[in-house]
Amino acid sequence: MLRVGVITASDKGSRGEREDLSGPTLAKLVQEIGGEVVEYAVLPDEQPLLEEKMRQWVDEVCLDLILTTGGTGFSLRDVTPEATLAVSDRLVPGIAEVMRLESLKVTPKAMLSRAVAVLRKRTLIINMPGSPKAVSECFAAIAPALPHGIQILKGEASECARK
Ligand code: MTE
Repeated sequence: MLRVGVITASDKGSRGEREDLSGPTLAKLVQEIGGEVVEYAVLPDEQPLLEEKMRQWVDEVCLDLILTTGGTGFSLRDVTPEATLAVSDRLVPGIAEVMRLESLKVTPKAMLSRAVAVLRKRTLIINMPGSPKAVSECFAAIAPALPHGIQILKGEASECARK
């Protein structure tokens, strides 16, 4: 089983003014690759809070995969990619490239997502745009390669001491 965390970045969602539909959509989708969502958070579009949650889930909870949804666009409040890059050890450009490439077949607005994918320690972190439609399209594009990549990342011995 892959242990997955989902972060929904949304000012309105975090205030309870908008129901988060993307997070639950991702929770269903990860089952297709043997994943289970064991951590879930709806956070405001605040870079320090997003960074703190990602660091905690990697360094203390030792998740295999973190999917974020929302906050990848052009609004001045959209800072999910910046938070993700700040916690990154290594970049995985291909994942974001494929999400945009496949999404462009559906909508030209796909190029407006600044989503990134990175590795921190033994965790893969992937940004997705903030709608159920977008996360479904993006997930479908990358799902075939995720289990293999995560398996290599996990390796045989885990350095991560679970608390
Ligand atoms: N990608 C897919 N696959 N489907 C979509 O509907 N919407 C786009 C883009 N990527 C979209 C998509 C739109 S309209 C925007 S503004 C950007 O993602 C950023 O979205 P975000 O700010 O919710 O992260």
